[in-house]
Amino acid sequence: MGLGVFGSVLVLTFLFKHLASQQPNTDEFYVSEFLKKMGLTSSSKVYNFSSSVCSWKGVYCDSNKEHVVELNLSGIGLTGPIPDTTIGKLNKLHSLDLSNNKITTLPSDFWSLTSLKSLNLSSNHISGSLTNNIGNFGLLENFDLSKNSFSDEIPEALSSLVSLKVLKLDHNMFVRSIPSGILKCQSLVSIDLSSNQLSGTLPHGFGDAFPKLRTLNLAENNIYGGVSNFSRLKSIVSLNISGNSFQGSIIEVFVLKLEALDLSRNQFQGHISQVKYNWSHLVYLDLSENQLSGEIFQNLNNSMNLKHLSLACNRFSRQKFPKIEMLLGLEYLNLSKTSLVGHIPDEISHLGNLNALDLSMNHLDGKIPLLKNKHLQVIDFSHNNLSGPVPSFILKSLPKMKKYNFSYNNLTLCASEIKPDIMKTSFFGSVNSCPIAANPSFFKKRRDVGHRGMKLALVLTLSLIFALAGILFLAFGCRRKNKMWEVKQGSYREEQNISGPFSFQTDSTTWVADVKQATSVPVVIFEKPLLNITFADLLSATSNFDRGTLLAEGKFGPVYRGFLPGNIHVAVKVLVVGSTLTDEEAARELEFLGRIKHPNLVPLTGYCVAGDQRIAIYDYMENGNLQNLLYDLPLGVQSTDDWSTDTWEEADNGIQNVGSEGLLTTWRFRHKIALGTARALAFLHHGCSPPIIHRAVKASSVYLDYDLEPRLSDFGLAKIFGSGLDEEIARGSPGYVPPEFSQPEFESPTPKSDVYCFGVVLFELLTGKKPVGDDYTDDKEATTLVSWVRGLVRKNQTSRAIDPKICDTGSDEQIEEALKVGYLCTADLPFKRPTMQQIVGLLKDIEPTTS
Ligand SMILES: *[C@@H]1O[C@H](CO)[C@@H](O)[C@H](O)[C@H]1NC(C)=O
Ligand SMILES: *[C@@H]1O[C@H](CO)[C@@H](O)[C@H](O)[C@H]1NC(C)=O
Ligand SMILES: *[C@@H]1O[C@H](CO)[C@@H](O)[C@H](O)[C@H]1NC(C)=O
Ligand SMILES: *[C@@H]1O[C@H](CO)[C@@H](O)[C@H](O)[C@H]1NC(C)=O
Ligand SMILES: *[C@@H]1O[C@H](CO)[C@@H](O)[C@H](O)[C@H]1NC(C)=O
Ligand SMILES: *[C@@H]1O[C@H](CO)[C@@H](O)[C@H](O)[C@H]1NC(C)=O
Ligand SMILES: *[C@@H]1O[C@H](CO)[C@@H](O)[C@H](O)[C@H]1NC(C)=O
Ligand SMILES: *[C@@H]1O[C@H](CO)[C@@H](O)[C@H](O)[C@H]1NC(C)=O
Ligand SMILES: *[C@@H]1O[C@H](CO)[C@@H](O)[C@H](O)[C@H]1NC(C)=O
Ligand SMILES: *[C@@H]1O[C@H](CO)[C@@H](O)[C@H](O)[C@H]1NC(C)=O
Ligand SMILES: *[C@@H]1O[C@H](CO)[C@@H](O)[C@H](O)[C@H]1NC(C)=O
Repeated sequence: MGLGVFGSVLVLTFLFKHLASQQPNTDEFYVSEFLKKMGLTSSSKVYNFSSSVCSWKGVYCDSNKEHVVELNLSGIGLTGPIPDTTIGKLNKLHSLDLSNNKITTLPSDFWSLTSLKSLNLSSNHISGSLTNNIGNFGLLENFDLSKNSFSDEIPEALSSLVSLKVLKLDHNMFVRSIPSGILKCQSLVSIDLSSNQLSGTLPHGFGDAFPKLRTLNLAENNIYGGVSNFSRLKSIVSLNISGNSFQGSIIEVFVLKLEALDLSRNQFQGHISQVKYNWSHLVYLDLSENQLSGEIFQNLNNSMNLKHLSLACNRFSRQKFPKIEMLLGLEYLNLSKTSLVGHIPDEISHLGNLNALDLSMNHLDGKIPLLKNKHLQVIDFSHNNLSGPVPSFILKSLPKMKKYNFSYNNLTLCASEIKPDIMKTSFFGSVNSCPIAANPSFFKKRRDVGHRGMKLALVLTLSLIFALAGILFLAFGCRRKNKMWEVKQGSYREEQNISGPFSFQTDSTTWVADVKQATSVPVVIFEKPLLNITFADLLSATSNFDRGTLLAEGKFGPVYRGFLPGNIHVAVKVLVVGSTLTDEEAARELEFLGRIKHPNLVPLTGYCVAGDQRIAIYDYMENGNLQNLLYDLPLGVQSTDDWSTDTWEEADNGIQNVGSEGLLTTWRFRHKIALGTARALAFLHHGCSPPIIHRAVKASSVYLDYDLEPRLSDFGLAKIFGSGLDEEIARGSPGYVPPEFSQPEFESPTPKSDVYCFGVVLFELLTGKKPVGDDYTDDKEATTLVSWVRGLVRKNQTSRAIDPKICDTGSDEQIEEALKVGYLCTADLPFKRPTMQQIVGLLKDIEPTTS
């Protein structure tokens, strides 16, 4: 009974459905249902649902007008999931193009479209995984699912698509390896799997599987392997594996007859000058951001078809600008960071099609050539050493350009020709050559010259005044002279306190704070923001940066001592060397450094940006530094130009807590210094993101605070000076230079170069000898501390290196162990050196037991 009622309801529902739609089971019904349910109504003018389906736009029928065989509904605003019983039922469909819509899900009956030869679902919002159901599409030739959100693995059932010619699955979220099923698709002409999250290696036999393959794009994944994987793809004309983890020598790839080759952003190595290749087919070559070495090919002269050439960011040796004048078709040239030295050749002006030219981050000097290239839209010359004027032809074409950057050179130009904001971003660091200077000149040297001139003028004027005064004095007597002079001096001082620019003189430097109103330039004190300290307070704390408060003069500039309001005892470090950062960048960097806190780092208390002068303010370290302590140096102002003696103690204020004599006689104390310094470096390397490389670890940068805790200083300052000082620092301090610095392929310091320098400090601490120039008694060949101690360790005579001043008994074994740690740190090859974290572990193992 109940069943009977239920049955009739079903029948009724069925009948009702069929009556409601007048043409069930026809392609017209399915297509109209599809359009209606995907948000297109008959009100849209294009689709007149009363007319025959075969006349609708984008719908193509077979000759009997019975079945839809081709459906092209690209870019008509289809939205949401495709319902079942719509296009999934068009079983004669050959070609389906639903690209450029907002489709989110495919229907379950989609996989019965077994006649499909061409399927394009590109640029939709389809998510979820692609199942092995695609194996049903055995006739498929063009398969495009690009620019969707497909996830999970690419299914193995790809192996059934034996007719496939074009496979585009790019810009999805496919993961894991490319399935070996793809090897069965031997008709493939084009594969694009770029911009997914594919990983692993290529399936075995990839190089032999595709005799017809012309283009292969695997860019922007994380696939690894070697170039040999491609070198047998004989028909290939375009290979793009940019942004993966391929490695090995690139030489093998140059057996293919390529038109486009993009190997950028991988880990390829090799001397590219050794590549022997017929370049005549090549149109596009990008080898940027690899680890290629040697010199750039000099045999590019038969690559007349080359339009795009990028070799940027590799590890080439220092080299002259390569010959490129025969590359007449060149449109894009990127030689950024390729170790170029010397001049930019004038011939570059002959490249009539050149559109983009990037020569940034090199060591190019001399003048900028005329560059009368009509089509030039992008120029980047930043971070070189170019000088002279910017040619007026370039200046005139700037308004038409998309991008240009001349910053960080030594160019001269008249700023009035250029808007101030552009001057700041694109010509930063250029010297103003206008008769009336609008901006203060940037480079210290120029400033020196300027001031010397000004001083001369002042001296002349003063002499004249004095001469005149002398005459007046002779004429009127001298009784009031002293008083008058005092008054004058006083008022001069007051004036200087209020308004600048201020000029200060030390033995080696003149520095200028281009500050108009001293009280309006804030000094940021991180922990005490409410103190409202200004540059005027800095002036009074240091008696107007008086020489009496000078602690030291280092490579960065002078260091002064003072008490800020709130009784904050500080060392004020004026960073005089021409910085390459803008004020905002420098402030951001100093703010960042201010947040870096560790019990073994000298804290940055605050900073001040005064004109173009950057001033770093540190906690004052009462007990001097390790260099003074070890070698009993007279404390006080050190020699000016030696980076290795950048200290800030002063003569009458040496060690405060304990006499320096007693301190270093115990192994326990020396161990404490070693471990503390190691902890500081381990923190900078492993506890900071991005890791901070100190770049100047040495005995004089290890300080002792009031509690005699070791504290490393000057971390991060090198960065504030950008590449300019980098080279100087890279050269290192005598005795502290890691061997890799003198390798031709050396690029920049790494954490492992800090490890080396730490090893030297450790040797100093254990032997009491200086890194260079000391008396390494028993070895005539040893010219440095490192070679002496390493020699002794190798000869198993480590105990002879121990500083005789260490007099606690029973510690020799531990000190010898520590010397071996130093031996590991100073290994010639950086990768053989332990990390700072490991060193902390090793040093903790030999901690003197508390008795
Ligand atoms: C829709 O097609 C029918 C039949 O071909 C025709 O009579 C009608 O005018 C068309 N309507 C529009 C708005 O074009
Ligand atoms: C579909 O139509 C668009 C625009 O009309 C066209 O570009 C595209 O080639 C067509 N697709 C197919 C498969 O014919
Ligand atoms: C798929 O459609 C997009 C957008 O209409 C088009 O750019 C692409 O070439 C098509 N794919 C194939 C394989 O024809
Ligand atoms: C890919 O290259 C690597 C390194 O050269 C090699 O070990 C591997 O066997 C190659 N794989 C294939 C599929 O050729
Ligand atoms: C290679 O792929 C990258 C990333 O998609 C793209 O920027 C580059 O233009 C491609 N190179 C070529 C030669 O098509
Ligand atoms: C390079 O290839 C081109 C075209 O195939 C050919 O004309 C030319 O002689 C070749 N050059 C060399 C140096 O082999
Ligand atoms: C191409 O450059 C190489 C190396 O500089 C040189 O030996 C060769 O003669 C040049 N060929 C032509 C055609 O200029
Ligand atoms: C030159 O190459 C570098 C490294 O790949 C890149 O960062 C830079 O944007 C490129 N320059 C131009 C102008 O495309
Ligand atoms: C920059 O060029 C000048 C000459 O114009 C030269 O004196 C100076 O050493 C160069 N600097 C660097 C870092 O190469
Ligand atoms: C800038 O160029 C001038 C010559 O134009 C040169 O004397 C000076 O040393 C250069 N400055 C730097 C920092 O390279
Ligand atoms: C020029 O290059 C510098 C350094 O790379 C960068 O800070 C600055 O933003 C660039 N300016 C423009 C306009 O791209």
